[in-house]
Amino acid sequence: MISIRNLTKGFENGPILEDVSLEINKGEALVIIGGSGCGKSTLLRCMNRLIVPEKGEIYVDGENILDPNIDIDKVRRKMGMVYQHFNLFSHLNILENIILAPMKVNGVSREEAEVEAKQLLHRVGLDGREYHMPSQLSGGQKQRVAIARTLAMHPELILFDEPTSALDPTMVDEVEKVIRDLVDDGMTSVIVTHEMSFARKIANRVIFLANKHIYEEGTVEEVFDYPKKPLTQQFLYRSRMYEKELNKNDLDLYSLSSEMKKFLLNYQNNDSQLKLLSVITDELLYPIFEHISNATIRLLCSDSSQRHMIQIYSKDFESDPLQEPYIDELNLRILEHYSQFVFSKQTKNGWNISIQMLSN
Ligand SMILES: Nc1ncnc2c1ncn2[C@@H]1O[C@H](COP(=O)(O)OP(=O)(O)OP(=O)(O)O)[C@@H](O)[C@H]1O
Ligand SMILES: [Mg+2]
Repeated sequence: MISIRNLTKGFENGPILEDVSLEINKGEALVIIGGSGCGKSTLLRCMNRLIVPEKGEIYVDGENILDPNIDIDKVRRKMGMVYQHFNLFSHLNILENIILAPMKVNGVSREEAEVEAKQLLHRVGLDGREYHMPSQLSGGQKQRVAIARTLAMHPELILFDEPTSALDPTMVDEVEKVIRDLVDDGMTSVIVTHEMSFARKIANRVIFLANKHIYEEGTVEEVFDYPKKPLTQQFLYRSRMYEKELNKNDLDLYSLSSEMKKFLLNYQNNDSQLKLLSVITDELLYPIFEHISNATIRLLCSDSSQRHMIQIYSKDFESDPLQEPYIDELNLRILEHYSQFVFSKQTKNGWNISIQMLSN
């Protein structure tokens, strides 16, 4: 439905997004995550040309919206946008807020618009609030009105820019539920959010923006449970990551294993995971440090499940570290026995080993 090709956009201080390409399909719920200032809102606002990129093409249903001759209002009518700060008209009651655009822009009669507005208020769980003023509603209620107002324009796609981040935590759920219902009904949605548990529940696909581009993308499972790249891991796991540089000269595998155990005990865990930590030091690190001098080990703990992961990186591996001479068949078998899976991968920074812990 939207096809973004090689988009570049910057402000006075240089580029924010560089050479970003992205396809958004009909019915999809695409979640965009990334650190503050990485360009999430900028990317969203390019999609309805609130911001014009320096380079690239953006097609909406096959039409290049950056073409100056295009009827941009027509394109924008296909796309609703829901902001962090609701943007309701404070001097108009809820009903008037909802019917304004359908009447003015789409030429719908007042009667018809009012009937639909009431249906939409029902849909977002706000029956009977039509004559309230925005100031009489809570943040969560205002955001639900903002969503109803967007729906009143019959968009084919809705862009949500942090729809819950201005809300009191007690009101996040009610707004998330409304958005989830829309997605379940097949509304194509692009959602920027910092609420990772919400992102998990709603996304068909997740993109992580960093270093001015789509740094990593995939399904919820791929990005949240098994992020492959370091910045994604740091972003998602932050305090839930144990990391240690290992050096052959002062290698103390005994204290490494006890530090990792201590760290893991802060999270949901099981006996085989604790056992795995000893297996990793004895059957994997011990033999490979016969051949290498430096490595980094990371233990990434999941916040909500036992899906923890261990990764070992080293520039010193000259070939696949899960093979001779680094580790022999028997040691690998033992390691695999105590893990969900073990795999190695070559990247431009050398080989790395990923070990997914067994979860019950
Ligand atoms: N209109 C503008 N003029 C100048 N700089 C801008 C403008 N809009 C955004 N920027 C800059 O571009 C960068 C990306 O901003 P953007 O709002 O897209 O980030 P974001 O990922 O949405 O961040 P947040 O999570 O804080 O909302 C920021 O450094 C911001 O200061
Ligand atoms: Mg933003």
